[in-house]
Amino acid sequence: MSISYKDLGLANTKELFKKAMAGKYAIPAYNFNNMEQLQAIVQACVETKSPVILQVSSGARKYANKTLLRYMAQGAVKYAEELGYKIPIVLHLDHGDTFELCKDCIDNGFSSVMIDGSHHPYDENVALTKQVVEYAHKHGVTVEGELGVLAGIEDDVVAEESTYTHPEEVEDFVNKTGVDSLAISIGTSHGANKFKPEQCTKNAEGILVPPPLRFDILEEIEKRLPGFPIVLHGSSSVPQDQVQIINNNGGALKDAIGIPEDQLRKAAQSAVCKINIDSDGRLAVTAAIRKVMAEKPAEFDPRKYLGPARDSLKELYKHKNINVLGSAENA
Ligand code: G3H
Ligand code: 13P
Ligand code: ZN
Repeated sequence: MSISYKDLGLANTKELFKKAMAGKYAIPAYNFNNMEQLQAIVQACVETKSPVILQVSSGARKYANKTLLRYMAQGAVKYAEELGYKIPIVLHLDHGDTFELCKDCIDNGFSSVMIDGSHHPYDENVALTKQVVEYAHKHGVTVEGELGVLAGIEDDVVAEESTYTHPEEVEDFVNKTGVDSLAISIGTSHGANKFKPEQCTKNAEGILVPPPLRFDILEEIEKRLPGFPIVLHGSSSVPQDQVQIINNNGGALKDAIGIPEDQLRKAAQSAVCKINIDSDGRLAVTAAIRKVMAEKPAEFDPRKYLGPARDSLKELYKHKNINVLGSAENA
């Protein structure tokens, strides 16, 4: 028996993207695998009155169990109401790689799916994406496609080099597939090591500044697809204070460099309606746990380190919603 997202109280991305486009902000898409992450996301988004996309990778589905995840998303809707403010919540598959995975998510309560055919030749990407859109739209589920390849690691796929999106392909892709949004490659990448130090310049304070995103490509895409929702993956900023806490407490993160927040702020005011953030959450959790472990070595109650990790995550998400994505007060 299949379960519709509508019965779980979830929303698809259609209206959210329309409002985000008009209001010049981006909806946060935060990845989650466990209860503390979900609590932090819901608390932060309710407190900042922000819509939110709960993002689940296929790895997260394997880790947490698909049935449990569905009930967790339903629980998130109820929890938000209990906290006193009803925010729109989307349950989204991140980097779906097959029709079967997307169908299984749609049949199990997801309100949005990504079919990432960006590693395939163009025509195969079109055919696969179209197949997913046809099934998804029958169920009122929205679909994100991708053109261009981001460097970094997504599940088991590792791309050494990024390939920027070719603007001349976007209209044909959107027309042929019927996708509701398009992820593009303009210089972001997955993970905590987005740039090598030698690609960066030093500013007056001695901080490494990476090369800017390719806003010229984004503008060309916007011209060809006026009013069409664009998605940015790989948008963690890799806060250096968190990296330092990790490294000062036994960690070994080297050359961790992210996307500067001002670049994301600028993107959020354009046709970019969804910004994906996972690595920054991982850093916040790891920093908080390492700190407790180092400072209180006799502690063995998981709540004593998962609690501070959850609090730190919540602060991170509130900061993103208010100062980076601009989604606060838009639920
Ligand atoms: O783009 C990848 C996301 O950060 C999800 O990562 O596949 O390790 O869950 P994951
Ligand atoms: P980050 O690794 O930059 O957080 O990107 C996450 C992402 O794009 C998930 O799809
Ligand atoms: Zn991604």
